[in-house]
Amino acid sequence: MQGDPSGVSAKLRLLVEEARKPFVGRDDEAYATVLALLSGEHLILIGEPGTAKSAMARRIASLLDARFFKYLLTRFTEPSELFGPLDINALREGVYRRITSRKLPEAEIAFLDEIFNANSAILNSLLTILQERILYDGYSEIEVPLWSLIAASNRIPEDPELEALYDRLLYRVYVKPVPEDNWEKLLWASWAIERGEHVAVKPIMSLKELKEAHRLSLNVDLTDIIKPLIRIISILEEQGIHLTDRRKGKILKAVSANAILYGRMKAVKSDLMVLRFIAPQTIEDFDKIEMILYEELRTPERIIGDLTEIMDNLLVLEERIDRAKSYDPELIDIYRTIKELRRKVASISRNVDDPRVQDMVDKIMDIIERVVEKVSTKMGM
Ligand SMILES: Nc1ncnc2c1ncn2[C@@H]1O[C@H](COP(=O)(O)OP(=O)(O)OP(=O)(O)O)[C@@H](O)[C@H]1O
Ligand SMILES: [Mg+2]
Repeated sequence: MQGDPSGVSAKLRLLVEEARKPFVGRDDEAYATVLALLSGEHLILIGEPGTAKSAMARRIASLLDARFFKYLLTRFTEPSELFGPLDINALREGVYRRITSRKLPEAEIAFLDEIFNANSAILNSLLTILQERILYDGYSEIEVPLWSLIAASNRIPEDPELEALYDRLLYRVYVKPVPEDNWEKLLWASWAIERGEHVAVKPIMSLKELKEAHRLSLNVDLTDIIKPLIRIISILEEQGIHLTDRRKGKILKAVSANAILYGRMKAVKSDLMVLRFIAPQTIEDFDKIEMILYEELRTPERIIGDLTEIMDNLLVLEERIDRAKSYDPELIDIYRTIKELRRKVASISRNVDDPRVQDMVDKIMDIIERVVEKVSTKMGM
């Protein structure tokens, strides 16, 4: 069964756009959160205090029409605060039951702030909720409607008890403080938030629509990316970055979600960039993995970067030609370099099917024609 993802893709992208709107430099956070929602998986925002993690999660909550549960965990949080208090009347009759109304067991989307504060009583229940969507609490088993959990924390857990929890959070974003060149923007953005400029938001998508988009993603054609994906997993492994089997097994969910976000029913190599949200384990991994992926995937962005460099080189060469005297021996070197660059550009043009890249290739080929003409004239050819 095929489908047309263009309508839903536009809406999902609007969701990303609206989610990041109040903030400076929170594009990845918004993007990954929407991917998580689209794939029905869980996400964690990791970053130092005050980097808008909670604000982003609250913003997403207000943009979605779904049953939400939000809670800030401390080491002293009791299971009843998340899962609901025990029903005393039922207990008198010997029945162990929780009153779950408005608590996590009834939520479709949950936001748990400072999630790694969970103590072991909470942790155990949380693990099965996240994995199986079932609340076990010793006596009863309740199926829960949880679709995605958004978590936040300012650290990565070292405690092995918490590792199982961390492993279940498929998407991970390292939320970096805003860099110096954007401090002015940060001041104005925070000021606008303080003034309440972003409060009146209307939901733009319902959980039902998200689930429909998710179903569409299950039909995305993945044939072209399996081999490159396996290669990349091996490269990551060689670099000491290990994905647990659970996480490996879920990569395709993220890849197909990304294809839908871009309005495609076919996954392409650049969809594998989602691995930058899945593969990192430590803080250092985030940058390292992004570099590896850029290198391996040669995404259009990267190729455009390479082409821009070639174009700059050509313009420098052109200046040298203009300054050179006729029959200057330097011209022969320049001529060789230009021919080399032309070979490179032609090869990119053959191998990359992206309109922006083709545009750039056309521009460069025009420049090459012009400089070749100049150099030939000066060499008297
Ligand atoms: N990148 C940003 N752009 C705009 N405003 C920001 C940004 N970062 C922080 N702020 C401002 O700082 C406030 C505090 O952020 P928030 O409470 O969401 O941080 P946090 O990451 O959850 O911190 P903590 O780890 O302490 O809970 C936000 O509501 C916002 O006003
Ligand atoms: Mg917070």
